[in-house]
Amino acid sequence: MMLDIVILAAGKGTRMKSNLPKVLHPIAGKPMLGHVIDCARQLTADTQITLVVGHGAELVKEQYSAADVHFVEQTEQLGTGHAVQQAQDSLRDGAITLILYGDVPLIKPSTLEELVSQVSESSVGLLTVHLDDPTGYGRIVRDAQGNVLEIVEQKDAKPEQLLIAEGNTGVIAATSNDLKRWLPTLSNDNAQQEYYLTDVISMAQREGKTIATQTALDENEVLGVNNRLQQAQLERSYQLSQAENLMIQGATLLDPNRFDCRGTLEVGADVVIDVNCIIEGKVTLGDGVKVGANCQIINSTVAAGTVIKPNSVIESATIGEDCDIGPFARVRPDTVLAKGAKLGNFVETKKSVIGVGSKVNHLTYIGDAEIGDGVNVGAGTITCNYDGVNKSKTIIGDGAFIGSNSSLVAPVTIGAMATVGAGSTVSANVGDGELGVARGKQRNISNWKRPTKK
Ligand code: UD1
Ligand code: CA
Repeated sequence: MMLDIVILAAGKGTRMKSNLPKVLHPIAGKPMLGHVIDCARQLTADTQITLVVGHGAELVKEQYSAADVHFVEQTEQLGTGHAVQQAQDSLRDGAITLILYGDVPLIKPSTLEELVSQVSESSVGLLTVHLDDPTGYGRIVRDAQGNVLEIVEQKDAKPEQLLIAEGNTGVIAATSNDLKRWLPTLSNDNAQQEYYLTDVISMAQREGKTIATQTALDENEVLGVNNRLQQAQLERSYQLSQAENLMIQGATLLDPNRFDCRGTLEVGADVVIDVNCIIEGKVTLGDGVKVGANCQIINSTVAAGTVIKPNSVIESATIGEDCDIGPFARVRPDTVLAKGAKLGNFVETKKSVIGVGSKVNHLTYIGDAEIGDGVNVGAGTITCNYDGVNKSKTIIGDGAFIGSNSSLVAPVTIGAMATVGAGSTVSANVGDGELGVARGKQRNISNWKRPTKK
C-alpha cells in the first residue's frame, strides 16, 4: 500500500508566546513534530511524508532537512484545507492520504493503522473523540441512523449542533485520488473565511461514500497543543505512560508521577527508581540496579547490581556491575567504571577508567586518568590534568594507595602497589611499590605563644 502522509505544521502558535515555532516545542525532550514524524515512520506501508510549513519554515526545514521528508510551503495560513492543497501535487495516484498535525504529538501508530485500513474507493476514515467539553472542536453531525453527514465548525454551528459531544480530531484518511478531486473545490464561504479541510467529509457523503469513524479512547492521544498548559498536560500524560510501561516490564518506580524519561530507557529485572529521576537519551539499567532520588542519567549504561545514591549526575558513562555511586557524585562523559568500583560524595570523574573494586570515596576530581584494580584514592585527591592548554594523563597502577589531599600533576604515573603520602604534590613518577612523599617538612616550634587580644 502507498501511504502519503501530510503533516500540517504551518500555524503560528500565537498562544505559545514564543519565538520558537510551535511544532518545535518539545514533549519529553523531542519536538512535537518529531513525535509525529516518528509515528508516521512506524506505519507499515510505502510511505511518503510531506510537511506543510509556514511560520518558522526555515527553522523547521533546518531541523528536519535530513529526515527524508518533503516540504511544501504555505505562505499564508488560509485554513486546513488550503494547507493540504499545498501538498496535493505530491499525492500519488493510487495512494491513501493520511492527514496529521505537527501539534498533535501523542498520536499512536496503532490508531492510524486501524484508521487507514478503513479507507477504500467507497469510504473515508475519520478519527473522532468524545469530549466532556467539545468547545472549539468541529462537531460530527450524524443522521438518525448514525451515518456521518458533515463536520461543522464551532463558529458555524447551530445551537443544537453545539450540544454534540463528538468532536473532530482533524485526523482524516482518504484515497489520494478522492482528495485531489475534492481539494480544488473547497470554498471559504464560512464564518472564518477559511478553506476547511473538514468540508471534504460532506463531499464524500454526497458522493455516497461511507464515512468510517473511529473513536480515540484516550483524549490525550488526539489533543493538540495551543499553549504551554496543554504542552505540560501532554508531557505528564506521555511520562505517565512511559512510567506505566516500565512498571509493566518489572521496574519499580517509587512514584510514577515523579519520573521523567526524555529518550529511551531499557531496564533489567528488579530495577528500582526513586522519585524525581530524569533519564535522557539512551540509558540501560541492568538487573537489580537501584537509582536514588533526584538523579539524572544521560546516555549511559549501568550494569547489574549497581547502586546510584541520591543526587548523582551521570552522563555518557559505562558503569560496571555492583558499583556504588554517590550520593552527590558527578560522573562525566567517557567515564568507565569496572566491577565493584566506588565513587563517593562530591567526586567528579571525566574520561577516566577506574578499575575493579577501586575506591574514590570523597571530594575528588579524576580526569583523563587510568586507575587500576584495587586502588584507594584518598579524600580530596585532584588529578591536575590541564595546564591551561593541554590535557595530560594520570596513570595509577593496581593496588596503589593515594593519600588524602594529594595533587597528581599530569602527565604522571603512580606504579602498582605504590603509596603517595597525604598532602603530596606529585609531579614525578612513583615506581612500583615505592612511597612518594612530596610536601613541606613539618617543623614543631616549642613554647609557641598564640596571639592574645588587646
Ligand atoms: C481544526 C478542525 C476542527 C477540529 C480541530 C481539532 C478544520 C477546519 N477544523 O480546527 O474540526 O476539531 O482542528 O483541533 O480543519 N494549519 C496550517 N495551516 C492553516 C491552518 C491550520 O498548517 O492554514 C495547521 C495548524 O498549525 C494546526 C492545525 O492545522 O496545527 C489545525 O489548525 P487550527 O487552526 O488549530 O484548526 P482548528 O480551528 O483548531
Ligand atoms: Ca487547534
